[in-house]
Amino acid sequence: MTTLREAGIPVIIDCDPGHDDVFALWLAAGHPAIDLRAVTTVGGNVPLMHTSRNARVALSVAGVADVPVAAGAAGPLSRALQTAEWIHGENGLGGPDLPEPTFPLDSRPATALMVDVIAAAAERVTIIATGPLTNIAILVRDHPDAAERIEEVVWMGGSTERGNVTPYAEFNAWVDPEALALVLSSGIRLTMVGLNVTHTALVTGAVRKRLAAVGTRTAAFGEELLEFFCHTNDQVFGLPDGPLHDPVAVMAVAEPEAVRRVHTRLDVELAGSETVGATSVDLDGVLRRQPNAWVARSLDVDRFWASMGKAIARLR
Ligand code: RIB
Ligand code: CA
Repeated sequence: MTTLREAGIPVIIDCDPGHDDVFALWLAAGHPAIDLRAVTTVGGNVPLMHTSRNARVALSVAGVADVPVAAGAAGPLSRALQTAEWIHGENGLGGPDLPEPTFPLDSRPATALMVDVIAAAAERVTIIATGPLTNIAILVRDHPDAAERIEEVVWMGGSTERGNVTPYAEFNAWVDPEALALVLSSGIRLTMVGLNVTHTALVTGAVRKRLAAVGTRTAAFGEELLEFFCHTNDQVFGLPDGPLHDPVAVMAVAEPEAVRRVHTRLDVELAGSETVGATSVDLDGVLRRQPNAWVARSLDVDRFWASMGKAIARLR
């Protein structure tokens, strides 16, 4: 099956599947406003071996076989990888039996695939990142010409409020805060879609019924993923309606009017003994620093779930 969008926004998704990353891939692959050109993977929720297989499983289940998937960094720029099996399970997609991917990994490393896709695109490419920013930081650091042709990076990560892996740090920022700092200093347009917004994308019973009612193989596989994801979110955070973080970043690209954002100052803590990875969002401008990022502030939740259901229905 070819991707559905030839005239959509050219997008690369960099991810660490992870349950919510899978729904980000499906929303992108099934949304008419997005032309998914490539997927790259990073060590994050689980080690790279699993995230690279899981990204291909997600696309294979959905019948998408014409989007290259390349593996990127196994771990952060300068820290040891810390993973999140407590939410996503040992293989990163706890719940369903995982089918074999229907296509192999691309032979290129992630940044080479990104460089090639950006070079081949007639328009500037948008990168949607749903894991630690390690691959994007390496692309920006080592391939400045390609980085020049990136329209923007839209990243699920950070938070204007509290964290989810420490009191003040969100997981993707916490795993590789130096990568975030490097992307911020590059001047590339960055939109941060943080926990403050993704915690409104709650997988309620009604949402699960609505998505399961799509009635396709992809929907059935998704329901098994959500069963596991909601269970672990309940166990770990007392959140039985698990927040489906990553597809909100896709929604910000596909339907930007559904994700309100403000231009503000974003910095990341690199050295605090208790606050490493905390995203400092100066919404009131008290630091009088130059604004350097767009930060999501709210989501049209009903519209989000409606678009997710329509996208899944367009897949197999
Ligand atoms: O904090 C939530 C983020 O961390 C999501 O991207 C989830 O998949 C994990 O990577
Ligand atoms: Ca993720």
